[in-house]
Amino acid sequence: MSPHDLQTSLDADIAAATDLGALESVRVAALGKAGSVTALLKSLGSMDADTRAAEAPKIHGLREAVTSALAAKKVALEEAELSKRLATERVDLSLPAQEALRGSIHPVSQVMDELTEIFADLGFAVAEGPEIEDDWHNFTALNIAETHPARAMHDTFYVDGDGAHPMVLRTHTSPVQIRTMMAQSPPIRIIAPGRVYRSDSDATHTPMFHQIEGLVIDRKINMGHLKWTLETFLKAFFERDDVVLRLRPSYFPFTEPSAEVDVGWSIEKGRRVVGGSEGWMEVLGSGMVHPRVIANCGLDPDEWQGFAFGTGGDRLAMLKYGMDDLRAFFDGDLRWLRHYGFNFLDVPTLSGGVGA
Ligand code: PHE
Repeated sequence: MSPHDLQTSLDADIAAATDLGALESVRVAALGKAGSVTALLKSLGSMDADTRAAEAPKIHGLREAVTSALAAKKVALEEAELSKRLATERVDLSLPAQEALRGSIHPVSQVMDELTEIFADLGFAVAEGPEIEDDWHNFTALNIAETHPARAMHDTFYVDGDGAHPMVLRTHTSPVQIRTMMAQSPPIRIIAPGRVYRSDSDATHTPMFHQIEGLVIDRKINMGHLKWTLETFLKAFFERDDVVLRLRPSYFPFTEPSAEVDVGWSIEKGRRVVGGSEGWMEVLGSGMVHPRVIANCGLDPDEWQGFAFGTGGDRLAMLKYGMDDLRAFFDGDLRWLRHYGFNFLDVPTLSGGVGA
C-alpha cells in the first residue's frame, strides 16, 4: 500500500476506535514491531538511492501524522470517559458512611477547655508563661523566701541556669500572675492553665500535673468577689446548683488573707458526687493578692487590689468524671483513653459520678 493509502485507512481506523483499548490495537497494528507503518519504514533499507530519496519523506511524514492522530484521539477518549463517569457516578447519601478511625479528647484537655469557656463567659482572658521558669518569677516575686519549704529539693526540679539566674520547672502556675502584672496594666482578669512539675509520685500525685491559675487585679476588689467567682465557676463546672463551698483560713506567701476552698459532697445512688454537704474535699487555694507581690510587679498596692486562686486540672477531671488513679492520666494506655476520652461532639455531663 502506498503511504497515502495507508494513511487514509489508518485515519479511518483511528476515527472508528470507541475506547482506549481499541485505539491501542490500532497503534500496535500501525507502529508496533510488526505494524504496517513499521514495515514501510523497514522497506526503505532495500530501496535504491533515488527511490529512497523520493519515498523517505512520505514514509516519515506518515509515521508523524499517525503518531499525532493517535495522541489526539487518546486525549479525546480520556475526556469522554471522564465526563461519562462524572455524569453517571453519584454519591449515594442513603448508604452508611465508611467507618474512619477517630481519636478522642483527653479528659485533661476537655476539662481545660471547659474551664476556659466558663471563665471566658466571666470576662477572663487566657495567659501563659514558660514551663522552665526562673527562680525569681516562681518564688521570689511571689514573696516566697529563700527558706520556704517549697524551695526544698524534694519538691522542686532544678535545671541548670546561666549561673546568674537559677532555673526551675515551675512548681505552680502562680508565676504567670507575676508575668501578667509586669506585662499588662490593670484592670486584669486572666486564667492561666498549664503544666506544672513537682518531685512527687503516688496514686494522687504525678511529677507533672496541671493547674489553672486565676488572677483579678482592679480597684476595690474584695473577698466577696473571690467567693462569688469561685462559686459561679464551680457550679458551672460541676453542672449543679447545689455546690456548696467552704473557705478555710490558710497560708500562702503570695496571698493575704488566704483561704483553702473545699466543695461539699454527698452520696447519691451509692456514689460520691459533688453537691450537698455530707462531707468536704479540698479543690483549690486562694486569697487576696499580697500587697508585696503587687509592689514587686511595679504596681501601687494602695491603688490596686485583687484576688488569685489556683486549682488542679487533673484533680477537677477526676472529681467530675470519676477516675481514681491520677497516674493513668499520663500512661498513654489507649484502652483508658477510649473509656474516658471524649468525642469532639460530646457534651460532657456528670454521668460518670465523682471518684472515691
Ligand atoms: N500556687 C498555689 C499552689 O500551687 C495555689 C494558689 C494559687 C494559692 C493562687 C493561692 C493563690 O498550691
